[in-house]
Amino acid sequence: MSDDNKTGAGLTARPQWRALQAHADRHAGRSLREYFAADPTRGERYAAEAAGLYLDYSKQRVDEETLRLLRELADATDLRAHVEAMFRGERINTTEHRAVLHTALRAPADAVIETDGVDVVPGVHRVLDRMAAFAERVRSGAWKGHDGRPIRAVVNIGIGGSDLGPVMAYEALRHYSRRELAFRFVSNVDGVDFLEATRDLDARETLFVVCSKTFTTLETLANAHAARSWTLAAFDGDLKAVAKHFVAVSTNAQEVARFGIDTANMFGFWDWVGGRYSMDSAIGLSTMLAIGPDGFRDLLAGFRAMDEHFRFAPFERNLPVLIGLIGLWNTNFLQLDSVAVLPYEQYLKRFPAYLQQLTMESNGKSVTKAGRRVDYATGPVYWGEPGTNGQHSFYQLIHQGTRGIACDFVGFCNALTPLGDQHDLLIANLFAQSEALAFGKTAAEVRAEGTPEALVPHRVFEGNRPSSTILADRLTPHTLGALVALYEHTVFVQGAIWDIDSFDQWGVELGKALAKTTAAELASQDEPKLAHDSSTNALIRRYRARRGKA
Ligand code: F6P
Repeated sequence: MSDDNKTGAGLTARPQWRALQAHADRHAGRSLREYFAADPTRGERYAAEAAGLYLDYSKQRVDEETLRLLRELADATDLRAHVEAMFRGERINTTEHRAVLHTALRAPADAVIETDGVDVVPGVHRVLDRMAAFAERVRSGAWKGHDGRPIRAVVNIGIGGSDLGPVMAYEALRHYSRRELAFRFVSNVDGVDFLEATRDLDARETLFVVCSKTFTTLETLANAHAARSWTLAAFDGDLKAVAKHFVAVSTNAQEVARFGIDTANMFGFWDWVGGRYSMDSAIGLSTMLAIGPDGFRDLLAGFRAMDEHFRFAPFERNLPVLIGLIGLWNTNFLQLDSVAVLPYEQYLKRFPAYLQQLTMESNGKSVTKAGRRVDYATGPVYWGEPGTNGQHSFYQLIHQGTRGIACDFVGFCNALTPLGDQHDLLIANLFAQSEALAFGKTAAEVRAEGTPEALVPHRVFEGNRPSSTILADRLTPHTLGALVALYEHTVFVQGAIWDIDSFDQWGVELGKALAKTTAAELASQDEPKLAHDSSTNALIRRYRARRGKA
């Protein structure tokens, strides 16, 4: 990889960046109405398809020249070499000195993927086989609780990547799930989360899956301890119950054993799987328990189909590259600093939350890999809600507010659970929103409708709000895998060009460390000697006083 990409300034000084800036300056005033008027076939031409996903990017503010210049930037920053380095298992997570091999989690059993001369694929398939055997036993009722009852509820305890992937996948694939089993997800250190998740469950029929890559995460350990006490209370404190009601998913066997879970009941993964890239590792055990091993294999096949497309398809029709480059254009040249993810599919209700960690923990960075401050914007804010709900809350701001927001619409041609004509209504709204955002309504059009003059400015829609639409036939495990891999690789494309480490997360450490000190200060019986700023000190004192500890 070339040296001048090691500085932030290096990127903006590149001729390809400057060409994009000049192009943006020339085309800033051009509207989507004009783009479409100039090319009546744009709607069909600005589209690409892979792994069961159809991407329409015609309503983005780009033309052939924009796309060519973006690809030139990708070439100049050696995107292809970066992609190969990831797939080959090089230590591209430089600040943690780790390989980034989530793609190996979905590799076929006969693939060979080495890191440090060791083929990781056999280990991946060993764990998948153990997960499948365990899932079959639980689902069939062969796995019994401590007093011989079958398991009827599975509670996943984890946070961040050890929660968001599992809960998103469970919700997304609920249609395919074993309905006799209840699934709950506990993440927050707020005890309410655990209490509400378990209040109607019987501990004698409940299995806890404690997920933590490090097995040192405060929230997860606090909830796992609460779960153990809750379970032991149902078995008169008999410690032998733990083996039947707790399994762990982690990279840290030592801490798992220290917690009291037999490592025979542990499903492992590896340091080359980032937490937010782990839903297809053993962290997906709850997903496999819900949809079964075959469903999980379909999910992995969807990931793999997108991986292969990303690795081998030309950039011109490569979905993650297109979305990544257009996102970079929106961020750096159109100054759009947020992306609304709008799935028109209720089953994808947790998808925006999942994407928030994937995108923002990955690309929320302000120094290059070499540690220099960037002089360009990096990861945009991701947020969203399923349509049509969002239409009745925040869409107003997207349509007529002063901020520029790019939208990703996601929809499916077929409903999994049809109800009258409601699916047509749902998808009609998706198409209508992207049309309204792109083309708006002019003052002349508003007047022509007979609108009183005083109301005209209020009823004008400027339009020119860019969006992409991802359309698939049906939400299946395979489609979900392809969709998640699409976003994983989109994040990769942008991180590679921005020259940041998309795979570390040092930004979460400071708060964690301060909370440890503060927790001790809140709990202390004696008046603690506070050395924070005056605001934090006052808040701590007030809290302690209200808790009778003054
Ligand atoms: O604090 C952030 C983070 O490290 C995430 O990256 C990770 O997904 C989450 O915490 C949970 O970590 P663990 O799986 O080690 O409990």
